[in-house]
Amino acid sequence: MSCWNDCDALLRRAVPLAPLTTWGMGGAAEYYAEPVDLAGLGCLLSQAERHQVRVRLLGNGSNVLVQDGSLRGLVIRLASPSFAQIRIEEDTGLLFAGAGAPLAVVARLAMQHGFAGLENLAGIPGTVGGAVRMNAGSGPHTIGLVVEEVGAIDPAGRFACFSRSNLFFAYRHSNLTDLVVTDVVMRLRPDRPARIEARYRQALERKRESQPLGEKTAGCVFKNPPGLSAGRLIDEAGCKGLSQGDAVVSSVHANFIVNRGAATFSDMLRLIELVRLRVEDRTGIELELEVEIWV
Ligand code: FAD
Ligand code: EPU
Repeated sequence: MSCWNDCDALLRRAVPLAPLTTWGMGGAAEYYAEPVDLAGLGCLLSQAERHQVRVRLLGNGSNVLVQDGSLRGLVIRLASPSFAQIRIEEDTGLLFAGAGAPLAVVARLAMQHGFAGLENLAGIPGTVGGAVRMNAGSGPHTIGLVVEEVGAIDPAGRFACFSRSNLFFAYRHSNLTDLVVTDVVMRLRPDRPARIEARYRQALERKRESQPLGEKTAGCVFKNPPGLSAGRLIDEAGCKGLSQGDAVVSSVHANFIVNRGAATFSDMLRLIELVRLRVEDRTGIELELEVEIWV
């Protein structure tokens, strides 16, 4: 693992991940890289596989809980502008976006060009890659519904294109788990910009009213059980305001845990477990995590 040959120049060591996550906490990546192009990314992936180093992709870090201390393995972020290109084909309604592009920027651009399909995802702070991998969404509106094609690299560094028929999306899930998404084609439909904007504003307003958007969180911590709201179950179990160290269950939306400043990984884990136990004791329902724990 000492020599990564051509990729050596890309690698940084002991890079703190807290500033790269919305929870603003956690330790440092043993190895970290921001490749500048597909060739660099492919090289990193194939070398990591050769050296049996675990690779994790970090988007905007808005759905991950990173352990304290040193996180073993390589964390890759597609932060280079070459992974954030966005293009809209006006005649077909196809939108091409790099995986590193912020979903919010893509949604606004689509709206300005009079293309609908992403406006209901307003306020979701992920990258296109993270959103597609998680099938991010709001109510019945999920990004998977508009995805037409995904370009991705497998662990050996080989690039492949997945058309809609090879893709599978479910609630906060896709079949892209072991791949690095590099770019996404979305099929949008034309509509009047004013109408799209009205829906965009409404979606954002709903989120602002019901979620602690200005705080350090990772969105909903738990998935909704079928037909139920985890937030409501946690609220009804009396968990709002429950805390462990600087980790506290939001008083705005009970499925959000806020880092008040100096929450540690173990504060978060203890609070998550406490909430889970309270809900299970009261309802018999075992909540499943939506956020991904990186250890
Ligand atoms: P990360 O959190 O960085 O990563 C999430 C997962 O995606 C990880 O497994 C990571 O390895 C993987 N990943 C990231 N990039 C790639 C890539 N290029 N290729 C392959 N895998 C990749 N989510 C919703 O669905 N709906 C909401 O309404 C919503 N509201 C939120 C509100 C707030 C305030 C916050 C903080 C979060 C919210 N979230 C919501 C959660 C989060 O924003 C989404 O899950 C988002 O899609 C994660 O994207 P990301 O780029 O931050 O991914
Ligand atoms: N509720 C409470 N107390 C709370 C929170 C919610 O009683 O503390 C009630 C609400 O009053 C409402 C019901 O529960 O009657 C549902 O709440 P909400 O509309 O906020 O939706 P949710 O099911 O809690 C889901 C997603 C959110 C997404 C919203 C958009 C999940 C786990 N959560 O929340 O996604 O933004 O719908 O409508 O699927 C995320 O995935 O990270 C996320 C934030």
